[in-house]
Amino acid sequence: MRSIICLLAFLIRIILSQTVIPPSTWNFTYPWPVHHYPLTNQRLNLSMAYMDIQPSSTATSTIVLLHGKNFCGATWEDTARRLLAHNYRVVIPDQIGFCKSSKPPSYQFSLQQLASNTKSLLDALKIPQAKILGHSMGGMLATRFALTYPNTTSHLILTNPIGLEDWKALGVPWRAIDLLYADELKTNYTTVRKYQQATYYVNTWKEEYDVWVNMLVSLYRSGEEGMAFAYDMALTTDAVLTQPVVYEFGLVKAKTLLLIGTKDNTAIGKAWSPPEVQAKLGNYSVLGKETAGKIPGADLVEFEDLGHTPQMQESERYHAALFEWLDRVG
Ligand SMILES: *[C@@H]1O[C@H](CO)[C@@H](O)[C@H](O)[C@H]1NC(C)=O
Ligand SMILES: *[C@@H]1O[C@H](CO)[C@@H](O)[C@H](O)[C@H]1NC(C)=O
Ligand SMILES: *[C@@H]1O[C@H](CO)[C@@H](O)[C@H](O)[C@H]1NC(C)=O
Ligand SMILES: *[C@@H]1O[C@H](CO)[C@@H](O)[C@H](O)[C@H]1NC(C)=O
Ligand SMILES: *[C@@H]1O[C@H](CO)[C@@H](O)[C@H](O)[C@H]1NC(C)=O
Repeated sequence: MRSIICLLAFLIRIILSQTVIPPSTWNFTYPWPVHHYPLTNQRLNLSMAYMDIQPSSTATSTIVLLHGKNFCGATWEDTARRLLAHNYRVVIPDQIGFCKSSKPPSYQFSLQQLASNTKSLLDALKIPQAKILGHSMGGMLATRFALTYPNTTSHLILTNPIGLEDWKALGVPWRAIDLLYADELKTNYTTVRKYQQATYYVNTWKEEYDVWVNMLVSLYRSGEEGMAFAYDMALTTDAVLTQPVVYEFGLVKAKTLLLIGTKDNTAIGKAWSPPEVQAKLGNYSVLGKETAGKIPGADLVEFEDLGHTPQMQESERYHAALFEWLDRVG
């Protein structure tokens, strides 16, 4: 009897020790219905948003699309429509801390944690194996996912992933999270557009890119949720800076494709590094080839005239290369 009471007290304590982080109320319209997967870790009850879209005829394969740090699941709409037309089931999560997922006021962000959250979602959806496609931070996450869950990852597709070099080893100083947070709080339309124009689109701009700038700015402007988002973005910057994947590319088992706009110059910490360090970082015309050399059997497609988001800048060309590879490697 006493032991049962002890057990009950123990269970109640565990339940009460979990803080419930409410689902996001951010109202940006997504192209397909958004589902919410309940996820409990780090003593938090969280809600992970995702889209899970079936093609009109029976799916032949599943692909998981991982968004980057400045994008959301919704940004994959164009790619997802094309994949659906090729009979793929498409699963598009928003990571914890991002977009329509809950935004903890504090969280131990790691690529391992986000990979584990994603795996847990796939398990709940009964998807034992999938192709994993990640862009930018989503590419770094996709790499960590492939390393951690080799049996789940049949194919790994990286579109201008970050993490192709170890920025801190190249001289990027560590930046305190409080300072990163202060940087995040300064975000506005002008700062986001200026950054994306220079990094994503090789100094060009089309009106259609504005939707993604406004999407991101509206997240920062979402009251308390926006403040939590800004803090989570500071925490994720710290996580990607301090947790390299670059030393483990040789261990990747999945069939891998790198799709690289070589005019990209993304590097975490470039903004607060001295000029001589800045000059060494983010040279994607070198990094794509280097990485393809490290991942066993990897294929590389380079876009000489494109930046950080080839899938947006030259959709037709990017997707032609993607499907050519998918059809070829099977
Ligand atoms: C989202 O909320 C904002 C601010 O409350 C409002 O201006 C906007 O119209 C809403 N958008 C949608 C799609 O409901
Ligand atoms: C947290 O989530 C778990 C299931 O994941 C649930 O059993 C528990 O009751 C939740 N706790 C609270 C306080 O809502
Ligand atoms: C992957 O599958 C192999 C062969 O079935 C098995 O030996 C291995 O333990 C699995 N690895 C993981 C990480 O589950
Ligand atoms: C946006 O932020 C930048 C940097 O903090 C600032 O210089 C600029 O005035 C702001 N622009 C607007 C329109 O608020
Ligand atoms: C990138 O590296 C290549 C080869 O070293 C060099 O020719 C090129 O100028 C570099 N690009 C930039 C933008 O630094």
